[in-house]
Amino acid sequence: MLKRKVAVLVSGGGTNLQALIDRQQAGEIPHGQLTVVISDNPQAYALQRGEKAGLAVAAIPRRQMTPEQFEAELQAILEKYCIEVIVLAGFLSILSADFVRKWPERIINIHPSLIPSFCGKGFYGLRVHQAALDYGVKVTGATVHYVNEIPDGGKILLQKAVAVLPGDTPETLQKRVMEEAEWQLLPQGVEMVCANLSANRTV
Ligand code: GRF
Repeated sequence: MLKRKVAVLVSGGGTNLQALIDRQQAGEIPHGQLTVVISDNPQAYALQRGEKAGLAVAAIPRRQMTPEQFEAELQAILEKYCIEVIVLAGFLSILSADFVRKWPERIINIHPSLIPSFCGKGFYGLRVHQAALDYGVKVTGATVHYVNEIPDGGKILLQKAVAVLPGDTPETLQKRVMEEAEWQLLPQGVEMVCANLSANRTV
């Protein structure tokens, strides 16, 4: 079966990357092939996870370059590895509209809330969970969506709800959302996008 080459873009710990690696090793992403892990932060632990799994890894130190240079390097790495699908898995840089338009329905992101709640510019990491707790919602969750030029604004592919429990802190809620939703949804989303590409194309 033809496998679509997948790049995973990361900035930090990489537990979502680990979920992808584990699910691929379990045979649950038959239409995709994790190929390269790219970080905008050379210190990201996610790079070590990628190496350990035998994937190619690359760091592009974003802070030392302009956004244009960063995206040019990113595009060059994606082309070098013949990438067809890009997964943002805890990737903190915002990609420009120009870049995103080059990859229509080829970039997906995992966001730790039920979009359209608690999303968009400034909602990342623990801030998302703090906002959910401040609002007092009883249910939150995670969303896998296509990336377009609006932050967290692309078409929704998958969502899963997670209960907010009395006494939750942003940290406990983050952990529950990861365990109960993110680590399941992201591998499913990658398989869905890769399988769709295979179904719609004669190659
Ligand atoms: C996750 O909560 C993800 O939804 C968000 O950033 C976090 C990344 O965690 N976009 P990790 O690096 O995958 O552990």
